[in-house]
Amino acid sequence: MIEAAKRIRRMARTLVESPGRLTEYYRSSFNAYQFQAIFAKYKQIPPNQLPPDGMIERLVEYWANSWSAKEEYIVGLLMHLNQTSGPILECGSGITTLLLGHRCQQLGRKLWVLEHHPGWATRMRTALAKHKLDQSVHIIDAPLVNSEHYSWYDVGNLPEGDIYNMVVCDGPPGHTHGGRYGLMPVLGERLSVGCHILLDDASRLGEQEVLARWEDEYGIKHEMIGQLKPYAVAIKSN
Ligand SMILES: C[S@@+](CC[C@H](N)C(=O)[O-])C[C@H]1O[C@@H](n2cnc3c(N)ncnc32)[C@H](O)[C@@H]1O
Repeated sequence: MIEAAKRIRRMARTLVESPGRLTEYYRSSFNAYQFQAIFAKYKQIPPNQLPPDGMIERLVEYWANSWSAKEEYIVGLLMHLNQTSGPILECGSGITTLLLGHRCQQLGRKLWVLEHHPGWATRMRTALAKHKLDQSVHIIDAPLVNSEHYSWYDVGNLPEGDIYNMVVCDGPPGHTHGGRYGLMPVLGERLSVGCHILLDDASRLGEQEVLARWEDEYGIKHEMIGQLKPYAVAIKSN
């Protein structure tokens, strides 16, 4: 009772002194509540079924991060998950990590996620623990390292030995030197023949350049998918 009274007094003071902060607090609490409720329903869907239309869109809405992937790409990830096997590599973390991570957990597969931003890595680890996904999904601290032609994740903390049959390539951020090109020179040998690489934001100029360089230098062909924010599916052929 005393705690509740103190809380109300604190809220009243915040409302008087800084009304914007209170609005923000309620907006983010509301979003978190909605996300949790819809995610609980998502978790009930068997791993060989796609979520009903609009469910992912609502999860993205309540995750409320303007950098998030959109429904088309996330549905693509779920479809390709069922066409591949073994551990999965993700470059850059966010809502995709949670939604794909839950499917990986259902299927007994591991998701290894490179994340360059220490604060974002902490936030994602907290979210994974909250949703009890931290046994199947691992956020790897991977600062960006500059080389002459590109910057890319330092993969020193990524456990050795795994070969990946699927890569979620939605990082590093688009403004990074060389964009997402570094995947192939740094980790190409750890991608299986036939590996499915799903590159988000693929109609941006930087990603088009990356796709052209992968094709020229590594013979990787791709297909563009989606209408609203197209992504590329590239298959490693040798
Ligand atoms: C495009 S985001 C990855 C998004 C993830 N696949 C998703 O759908 O949520 C790539 C990287 O941007 C960074 N990032 C995510 N949200 C951000 C934000 N709101 N502002 C700045 N950087 C952000 C993180 O380091 C993340 O790994």
